[in-house]
Amino acid sequence: MNKTAYYEALIRDIRSLTTDVDDAIANYANTAAAIWHSLPDINWAGFYFLKKDTLVLGPFQGKPACVLIEMGKGVCGTAAVRRETLIVDDVLSFPGHISCDADSRSEIVVPVIKNYTLQSLIDIDSPRKKRFDETDKKYLEDIATLLPEL
Ligand code: SME
Repeated sequence: MNKTAYYEALIRDIRSLTTDVDDAIANYANTAAAIWHSLPDINWAGFYFLKKDTLVLGPFQGKPACVLIEMGKGVCGTAAVRRETLIVDDVLSFPGHISCDADSRSEIVVPVIKNYTLQSLIDIDSPRKKRFDETDKKYLEDIATLLPEL
């Protein structure tokens, strides 16, 4: 299956899992699980929530991860400050990358913005360098729009 096809299928799954579910955490959790089981070559998929001025670990799939990330720190904190999607082709070359799983080699972080406010981040890691591209960015930004307001 090509990338467009599996993202189209993933978006259909997320819509059907979350429609009529009136609980933000349940919807975030099922979205993390749907991403985890749909995308090939990933070793972590989940969310960080912006609480006060800190990113706090949310629902995810993969190895246990760092709980708190300061704004401006790591890939997540940098994407949060810039409020834009960040694709890192090789995490070993990203200054300040926070390593939660030594297997991670590339990463994409997508801000979830509702009413002009940053609420959370989608974070996905891969054990393969250059795993993420503009197609991943486009579809993950679409998925960000499906997430509920917190
Ligand atoms: N690598 C991230 C930290 C979170 S883990 O990848 C789950 C970063 O540098 O922000």
